Amino acid sequence: MSLLITGGSGYIGSHTVVELFTVGQDVVVVDNLANSSTKSLERIEQITGKKPIFIEADICDKAAMENLFTSHDISAVIHFAGLKAVGESTQQPLSYYHNNVAGTVTLLEVMAKFNVKKLVFSSSATVYGDKNESPLVETMPTSATNPYGQTKLMVESILFDLAKSDPQWSIISLRYFNPIGAHKSGLIGENPNGIPNNLLPFVSQVAVGRLAALNVFGDDYDTVDGTGVRDYIHVVDLAKAHVQAVNALADLSGCTAINIGTGNGTSVLQIVDKFKEVSGADIPFNIRERRPGDIATVFAEAKLAQQLLGWQAELGLDEMISDTWRWQSNNPNGFE
Ligand code: NAD
Ligand code: WQD
Repeated sequence: MSLLITGGSGYIGSHTVVELFTVGQDVVVVDNLANSSTKSLERIEQITGKKPIFIEADICDKAAMENLFTSHDISAVIHFAGLKAVGESTQQPLSYYHNNVAGTVTLLEVMAKFNVKKLVFSSSATVYGDKNESPLVETMPTSATNPYGQTKLMVESILFDLAKSDPQWSIISLRYFNPIGAHKSGLIGENPNGIPNNLLPFVSQVAVGRLAALNVFGDDYDTVDGTGVRDYIHVVDLAKAHVQAVNALADLSGCTAINIGTGNGTSVLQIVDKFKEVSGADIPFNIRERRPGDIATVFAEAKLAQQLLGWQAELGLDEMISDTWRWQSNNPNGFE
């Protein structure tokens, strides 16, 4: 039996495949390569000695998905596939609703048809919206501030309704906080197209000389140094949370949302200082206006993951930054 990993050649998916191989789990990866390349799968083979079975297909393509379930014995699905750029989602909402919502409905229909009713879904801390105060707890009310966040919220609603309708479903929706870092081999990591939107890829491209200076969005928040505070989580810890979540599906029925964070907050300038210390590189920055839609502080209450998955973050900021730097300096142009 294999696990199906949608979006498995992407950033978090590729790290998760490595951790699944490490525990002896067979996987099938499906990805349409909209935001990744098969290079990551070759690198997975370099790290683990095993190459995942790869099917290039779109999760919205029902016939291709049915074909996949016909030709492979799938026990459960980890569903990463989707679009994730907040800014782009405001420009192209239909592609976000199509890929993230309609694509997930297609996947769920095919899973139901083949009686595969175990799922781990990639949700996001974005579902807590901008009204709750950190630490963010799974029981807090959810809301969305942009189409991307709306797609995560809509999929969570669909998953809760589905699990209520049929007790055979076992679903875990993992609400990731801010994933950063890379595998310690330096062979796989985050490989954004174009100018990065997120802080860490931007900082690391400044450090490696691809970009001139970081724009720090706001220094007048009510935080330790006025810059935004986030709960950064090492991607390898996040990948291990998926391994634990798949194990937990056996004992959990219904749909359960679980935060995956460290419970600690770090400011933009603390990240910049740590990056300078680890890389020895200069990181020039300019203070800019606040970025629309940002809030001052976001961090998780991380107790439920410990209780239900037996998981907690093990890697600290030093590892997150030094692993990001190893990946970026060994691969200044990503996988290209
Ligand atoms: P990523 O872009 O690196 O990986 C997503 C993968 O899905 C890519 O390989 C892409 O080619 C593939 N894909 C997209 N649409 C598809 C489709 N219709 N059919 C088949 N494949 C498709 O992103 P990531 O950072 O690894 O994120 C994985 C998941 O985690 C996403 O659902 C994202 O929304 C969610 N998430 C990410 C973050 C983050 O900061 N990285 C935070 C919270 C949640
Ligand atoms: C972090 C901090 C910025 C870039 C986003 C999504 C969220 C989730 C994770 C998918 C903030 C500041 C950033 C820059 C900066 N993704 N910053 N200069 O906004 O917390 O979360 O990614 O689900 O949904 O919204 O992450 O890395 O963009 O920003 O000063 O060039 O860094 O203002 O305080 P964010 P981020």
